Amino acid sequence: ERADAIPRDLTGRRVVITAGGTREPMDPVRFIGNRSSGKQGYALARVAAQRGAQVTLIAGNTIGIEPPAAVDVLHVTTAEQMGTAVDKHAVGADAVIMAAAVADFRPTTVAVAKIKKGSGNEPDSIPLTKNRDILAGLVQARRDGQLTGTVIVGFAAETGDEHADVLTHARAKLQRKGCDLLVVNAVGEGRAFEVDNNDGWLLGADGTEQALDHGSKALLASRVLDALGPLLR
Ligand code: CTP
Ligand code: CA
Repeated sequence: ERADAIPRDLTGRRVVITAGGTREPMDPVRFIGNRSSGKQGYALARVAAQRGAQVTLIAGNTIGIEPPAAVDVLHVTTAEQMGTAVDKHAVGADAVIMAAAVADFRPTTVAVAKIKKGSGNEPDSIPLTKNRDILAGLVQARRDGQLTGTVIVGFAAETGDEHADVLTHARAKLQRKGCDLLVVNAVGEGRAFEVDNNDGWLLGADGTEQALDHGSKALLASRVLDALGPLLR
């Protein structure tokens, strides 16, 4: 796509995008993390900015990629920090896109000093506490009237299992989360079974379902923003 062919359809819009994975500390040197690269969220931020949006990128841990130019970047570490930043910046935003891999659980306690071997209190397990769901919180805030007119987009990586295929799980997640759009990536070995070359779907709360063909993260970002446009207030 030529640069001059990029639509400027998001001019004047304010969009909050999360990217990367959160890290949940257990002591000053250790954490529980995940394999999110941050690439998809960064691609969304870049393309949204190219299309004219004022973008706030709330970034967790990434593989060391450079944030796009012309984007306000806020770096966070934990799910709690990400939630606080999202809640703050979502106010008055036209859209929030939760591309980040938010840790579902954090170590219940964080040791102030490094946990040492042979110290007599070596842990044989790590108690975990569930993190709050940032996306569900946004949906709830909108229902409660604290967040008006903000379009809320979720991401999900799904595999099929013995109970249901990817799409069935994804539809249930869209219902459960109550967001306006859910970007579904089919992951895992079973996927060729269910999806014939498609890497995922874009599910709308209005029942629309669009297959997403395999392509670059920038292309996927464009598809997501294309679907977002008509939902903006
Ligand atoms: N998400 C969030 N806060 C969390 C967990 C997830 O905002 N504590 C967001 C993610 O950023 C993503 C969406 O919710 O946009 C779906 O995440 P996913 O992990 O697929 O959903 P979960 O509800 O955590 O379900 P699962 O048990 O499948 O992990
Ligand atoms: Ca999760």
